[in-house]
This record gives sequence, structure tokens and C-alpha cells, in this order.
Amino acid sequence: MKILVAKNSGFCFGVRRAVKAVIQNINKFSSLSTFGPIIHNPQVVEGFRKRGVFAINSVDEVNTQAVVIRSHGAPPEIFAAFEQKGIKIIDATCPYVHRIQKTVQNAWQNDNIIVIIGEQEHPEVVGINGYCNGEAFIVNSAEEAKNLPTTTKPVCVVAQTTSTQKKWQEVLEVLEKKYYNITINNTICFATEDRQREAIEIAQKATVMLVLGGKESSNTRKLFLLCSEYCKRTYAVESIADIPADTISTDDIIGITAGASTPDWLIEEVVTKMSEFDKPEDQTFTFEQEIDKSMVRIHPGQMVKGTVIYVNDSEIGINIGYKADGFVSKEELTIQGNISPKDLYKSGDEIEVEVIKINDGNGNVILSRKAMLNRLANDKVLAAIQAGETFEVTVAEAVKGGLTAELDGIRVFIPASQIRSKGFVKELSQYVGQTLKLKALEVDIQKRRVVATHGQLVAEERAKASEEAWSKLTEGATVKGIVRRLADFGAFVDIGGVDGLIHIGDLAWYRVGKPSEVLNINDEIEVVILSLDKEKERISLGYKQLKTKPWDFAAEKYPVNSIVTGTVVRITPFGAFISLEQGIDGLVHISEVSNEFIKRVEDAVRVGQSVEALVLDINTETKRISLSIKALTADTSNEPVPGEDTDIVNKDDSEMARTAILEAVEEEAEKETSEEEKGE
Ligand code: F3S
Repeated sequence: MKILVAKNSGFCFGVRRAVKAVIQNINKFSSLSTFGPIIHNPQVVEGFRKRGVFAINSVDEVNTQAVVIRSHGAPPEIFAAFEQKGIKIIDATCPYVHRIQKTVQNAWQNDNIIVIIGEQEHPEVVGINGYCNGEAFIVNSAEEAKNLPTTTKPVCVVAQTTSTQKKWQEVLEVLEKKYYNITINNTICFATEDRQREAIEIAQKATVMLVLGGKESSNTRKLFLLCSEYCKRTYAVESIADIPADTISTDDIIGITAGASTPDWLIEEVVTKMSEFDKPEDQTFTFEQEIDKSMVRIHPGQMVKGTVIYVNDSEIGINIGYKADGFVSKEELTIQGNISPKDLYKSGDEIEVEVIKINDGNGNVILSRKAMLNRLANDKVLAAIQAGETFEVTVAEAVKGGLTAELDGIRVFIPASQIRSKGFVKELSQYVGQTLKLKALEVDIQKRRVVATHGQLVAEERAKASEEAWSKLTEGATVKGIVRRLADFGAFVDIGGVDGLIHIGDLAWYRVGKPSEVLNINDEIEVVILSLDKEKERISLGYKQLKTKPWDFAAEKYPVNSIVTGTVVRITPFGAFISLEQGIDGLVHISEVSNEFIKRVEDAVRVGQSVEALVLDINTETKRISLSIKALTADTSNEPVPGEDTDIVNKDDSEMARTAILEAVEEEAEKETSEEEKGE
């Protein structure tokens, strides 16, 4: 039986921090409680309960000296209520959640409308909503987003940290069309993203997928749904009792992933159970041992990152997140040889090292920087990638979670979320055979594997181009651009590295229903820069401003007594509106529609019909043109209808009337000319 265990499984940074906060404070206070279950995992909650740490669900329930606020955070009024009761607060809100709360608070104070993409009842969302006075609009699907009210106010969008990228993209697509003044903050936690990406990769290979975690855990539920899409035999496992043992055979490939609130001991229990499928379990752990086991696992030869905690003349101490700290001796620090550790590092520096020995006999981990540097020295391409240099690959294959390629024997994976600068690519196969420029996100030196991004590079290049473009822009200038996107409220135009917006009202001098009536995507156009706001990165463009106003020359184009051709665009009880050109409509009053008696305008003309009419009057100030159709048709209302020849007779009469009018107009013009000549 093959077992694939996700690297990104078990406690995330925020949950680990919250659990640690409880452990560290159990003995500091006479009594301790947590506001809500510290994590969505019944075993951990039960473990704490046995030690006297109870989860309370409201401020009224608190009867302990101190309370721990879990990683989801809580609304400000909860903090205030505990303080008022004199309860000591240990705030274990995850720093990522805290950042969202701050973003929302600032935006709300600046009169933004807040939209949270997430689950209405989720404690994290409830907490965030508390930072905008509970006024956020919370949506959990594109459909819900469509029903949000329209607004002219700025809109600030954030996401619940455990939302999926798919949902985020779907909802954002709706919001971007709906709101012009929108600030998008992708607050999905990278730990969640990595976990979901890896779970998908494993689910694609597994025949049985076990998703470990509490049933109440939102991120575990999402993992379960994602894995189910790729592996039909996906099971939710809260404890080993949930493993569907009778359906698993030794031929199966077992994939194992776990939600952010799943302790490592459960993962290990499940792995053990799966690998010793027929053997009874005999392992028991104390609660503290189990918590210990939730710390990082390491093995010799592994590359790990850590933080320097001390430096002396002979070695440096490093915290690698393992239960014991590690150290690198002076000899193992560089390839160059005799350099004092103090000349190279100081406390707080980040460092990447190789694990040499997990226990030196005194419980310390022996690490080496030199071993890692030696590996890199022998592998120049990987060393350059590791150092942050960009590289190019030709995409070999599209797999469900992204794209794969190979470079000098190095396996490169580009997650679907890292292909474009924005958004998740659904149709991955279009990239196969294409050459992409990449930058590494993660490098596994030992396994010669790289996870890379193309999207971030594109975004960086765009930012550079945008900076250059901004420096060249001035208000009032006319520039060339390409229409990139059409929204209900206008058209976005790329004017050389930056996008500006032509508001719908600035597209044409006439009323425009939809921007697509005037422009198409990829149209190359000229626009005038109406205003620039560098701080908000907003550029207002004008398109109609470079076009002639239709009414400016209307008097010359449509003089009184001229004959015009137009299309009936609207019929009202008092007449028909005839479009002479975009932006200029004339009115044929009902009394001027026909020589015959008509009850309704529709009895003589219909919308869409092309008609000829005589200009009776034009007023460019009020933008009105009066037209007459009947003036160009003979008055046959009093004539008898001569049977079969009616059409011919009417046509001849109409022609005669028209000729007579033209003659009259010419006569009038001649008269005016001779009077002018006399005047001279
Ligand atoms: Fe924090 Fe991310 Fe975990 S937001 S609580 S580290 S899932």
C-alpha cells in the first residue's frame, strides 16, 4: 500500500500559536477559559477540558481569571466586555486575521462599503464584521454577490482566510463588474492556499483520500469538497474510528491531508493505522507528548529554515520550529573556512541549513550551512534559482493543480494560481508548449524540485511599466490606447502600461445604454486624459471629447425646408421620433405624419422604418428639430380611390408634391441670394 501524506497538513501557524498560548498559560492563572473552542478539533478541546480549560460561548459565561481569544479573533465589543469584567485577555488572534480586521476598520472609517467573501456565521467573519460596526455585506457565492446593492461609495473587499481561490475569483468577477471604485484585498491565507493546492495534487494520485479534521472545521470541510472533486473515494476522518477500513485494500494508494486544526498526533495515528493495517494499535501518548508531536518533524538531510537565536565565537543557535533548537558549529558555517560566526550572523537573522543529526546525545539538533552550500555549489542552475534569479522553461504538461516543466533535470511546478498575475487559470492545456519566464517560490534543493510563479513576474513587470507610464501622463493630453475590458459603467483602456476608465457618460455625446454600443474589446482608440489620481491609481479618460458634438453643425446640416432621411426610433401619442444621426433625433408631430386622418401614429409609421421628411424648424439651443412626413406626400384624403391604379397614382402625386416643394425651396433660396446681392 502506498501512502501519500501532505506536507502542508495539520496545525497551521495561527492554530499552533493559539494552542501554545493555552498551554503556556494553564499554570499562569488560577483558572483559564477559551472564547469558543480553541480549535475545531474535539480531541484537543477535550484534552484541555480535562485540564480545566473550558470553552465559553459568551461573555456572560466567563468565570475564570483569564480568557484566550482563539485564532479566529473576535469583535472589539467582546474584548471590551471582558475588560469591563476585569478578565485578563490573552489575544491569540492569528496575525493574518488581525491584518484583515485592521484593513476593514480603516476602510470603514474612510466611508468604504465593506464586502466580506466568506461564511456569515463563521467566527472569523463575525469577528471581522465587528471592525466595521457589523455593517459588512457578507457573500458566499457569485449569485449572492449579484444581489448586492449598487453604490457610488468606494468598496473594500476582503475574504475569509480559508476561502477557496475558486470562490474568490467567481465572486470577484461579479464585484468588479458591479463596482467601479473597488479595492480588492486577497486575504486568503497562503497556508490555506498551499494546503488546498497540495491536497488536490495528492487527490489526483490517490485511490482513497482521507481528509482529517474536526467536522466543525470550515477549512477541513473545504478540503474535503476539493478532494472529492478529484478522488471519488474521499472520506472525512475526525478520529481513526472514521477510517473506512473494510473498503480499503492493500492495492490502494492512500492520500492523507488534514485541516489547519488537526493535531499531528491524529495524522500520525492515521498513517500508522494505514501502514500497519492489520495490526492492533498499541500506542498511547500523554496530552503534552501529543502537543509536542505537533511540532515540526525533521530528518537528516532535510533542508530547513530557521531563525538565529544566538551567536558566539564557536557556533550559532537556531530555532527551526522543532521541539529542540539546533546549532551550526563555526566549521559547518561556510565553505570559505575560518570566519567568525559573529561576522556572518546576528540574532534574528533567517537562515537555511541542512539537518545532519536529530539528536547529538544531549537533545540538540546538529545542523550545517556548509553542507547546503556545497550542494548548491555543485548545482549552479539550482543555486541561481535559489538565489532568486529568473529562468525560462517550456511547459511540458498540464496537470489538474497547475503546469509542470523540467529544466536541467530540475522538476518545476507552476500552480494554477501562479500562472496569471491575477486569478486562477481554468484552461491549463493552452500553456503546454509555451515558454514561460519564472521565479522560484520554493526550492527543494535535495529533491531538485522548484515551485515557481509566472504571475508574480508579470505583476512586477506591469508595476514597473505602470510606474514609467504614470511619469509620462499629463491631464489634458491626447493619448492612444487599446480597449481592454468593458463593464456596465464604462470601458477600461490600456494607455501604455496603465489602465484608465472612460466612464459611460464620456463615451459619446448621445445617451449610451451599454459601452459595447460604442467600443469593442481590442479597439485601438484615441482618448483625452481628463484627470489623474496617482494615489488611488485612477485615470479618467474621455472619448467623446475628441469627437464633434452632433448639434454643433446641425443647423448647417439640417436647414429649414431641407429633406432628410432617418429611422423611426420611438413612437409616442404625440408623434414619432426620427433618428437623423447618433445624437440627433427630430420629431414628426402626429399632425405632420400623414395627409390622411390617423387615430394613432402607429397607423402610419412603425419603429425601424426608414422615412423621408421635410425640416420645418430647427432650434440648436433647445436641440429640437420639427419634421413633416406629410409635406412630402400628396394630399389624397379627398380624392376618390381609383381602384387598381391607386399605388401608381399616389406615387405620381407624391413625386409631384416633392418636386413642387423642391422648386419652392429653390425659389426661396434664389430670392435670398438676389436680396443679398442687392444689399451688397
Ligand atoms: Fe492564521 Fe492562516 Fe491559520 S490565517 S489561523 S495561519 S489558516
